[in-house]
Amino acid sequence: MAEKIIIDTDPGIDDAMAIFYALESPELEVLGLTTIFGNGFTDVTTANALKLLEIAERTDIPVSRGADHPFKGKFTDPATFVHGDDGQGNINLPAPLGKPVDERASEFIIQKVNEFPGEVTLVPIGPLTNIALALLAEPGLDKKIKRIVLMGGNCFCAGNATPAAEANIVKDPEAADIVFRAACPITVCGLDVTEKVLMKAAVLDSIGEIDNPRAQHLAKILPFYRSFYKTVLGDTDIHVHDSTAITYLLRPELFTVIKRPVVVATCNGVGRGKTFPGRHEFDHMGLWKDRQAVEICINADVPAVIDFEMKRLADSKV
Ligand code: RIB
Ligand code: CA
Repeated sequence: MAEKIIIDTDPGIDDAMAIFYALESPELEVLGLTTIFGNGFTDVTTANALKLLEIAERTDIPVSRGADHPFKGKFTDPATFVHGDDGQGNINLPAPLGKPVDERASEFIIQKVNEFPGEVTLVPIGPLTNIALALLAEPGLDKKIKRIVLMGGNCFCAGNATPAAEANIVKDPEAADIVFRAACPITVCGLDVTEKVLMKAAVLDSIGEIDNPRAQHLAKILPFYRSFYKTVLGDTDIHVHDSTAITYLLRPELFTVIKRPVVVATCNGVGRGKTFPGRHEFDHMGLWKDRQAVEICINADVPAVIDFEMKRLADSKV
């Protein structure tokens, strides 16, 4: 039976890749998209989530709008320099035809987890605000969540949003630290692995040759993302961030993981948003004492990961 998932997302160009990938994977049943700020303001990411489902001809899937700001402070800095002012490479898509459901994202998550206790996997690929709000709104919810597989964090490497922190975590460190206290199984697809999953220029160029609406949309939005990466990597390859969480769901055997409890730096100052792993799996010291160990992805069979995602984008059900 297909694994029930909710993707919590801030589309976002790499979010679009991940959403299409999940929709094309028969192993997954996407119960809904919940939206969050991050690559854009929540108005923008919600409109993009609706648009992506229209492009994929999956408007049967609900979109639930999430938080507009983090636990502390206001959200003022969408990553428009990476994803465009419209969050989709500035290709000026028409407004979506559909509307989000009435339930806010945290309510939607709570409803679905209670409708299918033990069966729903949460796949956050943006800041963790909605997940944390759901956990706080219903104590014990974490024991009814099948697992959380998230894109975020940097345990053994530098950050990408600041030298200390990864973009999803640093946009709401308080929320992230609440999530890392949850009792359900958690897998972290952070920069430790996603910055090793490099999609090369030749592969990216080939996406435009795939004749389906999803690939054609990606071919339109990727140039903006690649121009950003040219400033970071010096060429137009990209790090595959969000899709790597989907590949972990589908082919975990392609990944190397270690287990550690994780604490998030919620202090102000230079280290804010850094994810700190414990020194070993059962760290009984200090802040790590009462936390379960989570799975941290530290490596992957990159050619196999890239090949698998590309096969799914091209419709071939492998
Ligand atoms: O650090 C990468 C993450 O930040 C990805 O989820 C990307 O979409 C942005 O949200
Ligand atoms: Ca994202």
